[in-house]
Amino acid sequence: MDLEPSKLGTKDYWDEFYNRELSNLRESGDTGERWFDENGAVDRIVNFIEENDILKGDVLDLGTGNGHLLFELQDNEPDTPYKFTGVDYSHQSVELANSIAENRENMEFIQADILDPSWARNRKWKVILDKGTMDAIALMAPADVHSERPLSRYPKAVEQLLADDGVLIITSCNLTQSELKQLITQNTKLSAWKSIQYPIFEFAGQKGQSICSLAFKFADTH
Ligand SMILES: C[S@@+](CC[C@H](N)C(=O)[O-])C[C@H]1O[C@@H](n2cnc3c(N)ncnc32)[C@H](O)[C@@H]1O
Repeated sequence: MDLEPSKLGTKDYWDEFYNRELSNLRESGDTGERWFDENGAVDRIVNFIEENDILKGDVLDLGTGNGHLLFELQDNEPDTPYKFTGVDYSHQSVELANSIAENRENMEFIQADILDPSWARNRKWKVILDKGTMDAIALMAPADVHSERPLSRYPKAVEQLLADDGVLIITSCNLTQSELKQLITQNTKLSAWKSIQYPIFEFAGQKGQSICSLAFKFADTH
């Protein structure tokens, strides 16, 4: 499952990316990239949360980018009293998301590295979303040849943010559904609960999904 490290696994790449997105927002009002939109990921995640009655507490979006997933979720359930928090290690992302949010209520954006376990100060969330962020972390290089890949710290870092009866939904293009399930369940007390369906593509006689979304819960809460 080890992927070749790439520039998408560096903070410099994302800082520059959101600098450009900020300029675009100021020049044309364009709110920017929505990863996996071509797969209908945002609508599918929002529908999945509604259909499964998951929105029962505060929401955290890991590596939130421009924050659009939180905006869509809040717009879909406008009367919800819960707080929506986006976290991203790029301060340009936080600036971008705050500029788009303007004066929305119950919405906050925090700059932090989600692999650093101290940032949340023991706060827990009922709903945790990750769309494309674990994918970026999977492309991070190890600190040196003797160190583990940063992805190995992801499962436990995320587990400690989830409330006992919470739901974690990860959407990935770099891992298959079974690789994602293995990564999370082998290293935490979480187990796979439900998956979101995407159209199946067929190429050279092989069938598959281009992205996957898997929902996890603590094993004893199913
Ligand atoms: C592929 S983009 C996805 C952005 C957004 N979730 C979306 O779906 O449009 C990956 C995001 O993860 C953020 N990111 C990568 N590693 C991170 C880390 N260790 N801590 C916090 N954010 C991180 C990047 O800054 C970037 O915004």
